[in-house]
Amino acid sequence: QKNCYILGIESSCDDTAAAVIHNGEILSNVVATQAIHEQYGGVVPELASRAHQQNIVPVVHQALRKANIDKNQLSAIAFTRGPGLMGSLLVGTSFSKSLALGLDIPLIDVNHMQAHILAHFIKTQEQTAPNFPFLAMTISGGHTQIVKVTDYFEMEIIGQTIDDAVGEAFDKSAKILGLPYPGGPLVDKYAQEGNPKAFKFPKPKVGPMDFSFSGLKTSVLYFVEKEMNQNPDFISENIADICASIQFTIVDYLMDKLKNAVKKTGIKEVAIGGGVSANSGIRNALKEAEKKYGWKTHIPKFEFCTDNAAMIAIVGELKYKSQEFAENNVVASARMKF
Ligand code: KG4
Ligand code: ZN
Repeated sequence: QKNCYILGIESSCDDTAAAVIHNGEILSNVVATQAIHEQYGGVVPELASRAHQQNIVPVVHQALRKANIDKNQLSAIAFTRGPGLMGSLLVGTSFSKSLALGLDIPLIDVNHMQAHILAHFIKTQEQTAPNFPFLAMTISGGHTQIVKVTDYFEMEIIGQTIDDAVGEAFDKSAKILGLPYPGGPLVDKYAQEGNPKAFKFPKPKVGPMDFSFSGLKTSVLYFVEKEMNQNPDFISENIADICASIQFTIVDYLMDKLKNAVKKTGIKEVAIGGGVSANSGIRNALKEAEKKYGWKTHIPKFEFCTDNAAMIAIVGELKYKSQEFAENNVVASARMKF
């Protein structure tokens, strides 16, 4: 059991990914990003499924080659069972089941949101594993949650968004500013040169550990429209300040919620995960919180923030150790819970 090689496969949204893990260390981590969705300003599920089908074999081949192992050395296949887009999940699920059958090795089903959190247990120089219990804030294009983690697979959602996910708030604001999809990383890029206090956006009031983001895009829209009436070049002349102000509002809001969660639970060890944890604003705010509030914080290595298969592989390894395998009639689950 010590020398296991596990292949992780991720296909929940618009990235087809495969990775190989060996004793906690990632040997390869391959992602094929689907450029097709850019021209539609968002992920088109039907096109995503087709692209997964096209990409999955080449991506797995590449992951095995980069890991320098043969498929016959694999001990198990771990795959994302959900949550995510059904058509996308079906491709990864069916492929994984077939490959496991062909190689006559166990199949392990993985919850994508748990994987974003458990990515912190991948062994690298840049990451230290959190100690239980810890709080995890998962921030992505599909989810915004604060989770109390008492053990690898003992997780409780203690706060979440009542409408949009935080990644959507970034992407929709970016769209209003005329930036291409997904706009989150671009808002981050412009924000680095702007003044975060230049403009003020309201922070919606909901439960102390819950989130609401649908109002933000509306206030960004009204604000931009109003300014454009005075000056048609308002966006291009102020792009850095606008992005910095939007990012500041979002990050401040996320930190407010985390502070409330720390206060409520008494847990001062905090981790983030999901695509938005790549954001420089939240990364800096979290680092500052170590000095300011005495928290111990965990920020994932960049490549383990956005959707990837390394996080699926580490969950696969954890479950492999306790022999938690999927039944061979397992099905994808678009709304899979913890
Ligand atoms: O986890 P992820 O790759 O996919 C989902 O499961 O949703 O997250 C994607 C989201 C997108 O909304 C993207 O704009 C956002 O993460 N994102 C960022 C940054 N990098 C990715 N948002 C803000 N700043 C970034 N640097
Ligand atoms: Zn994700």
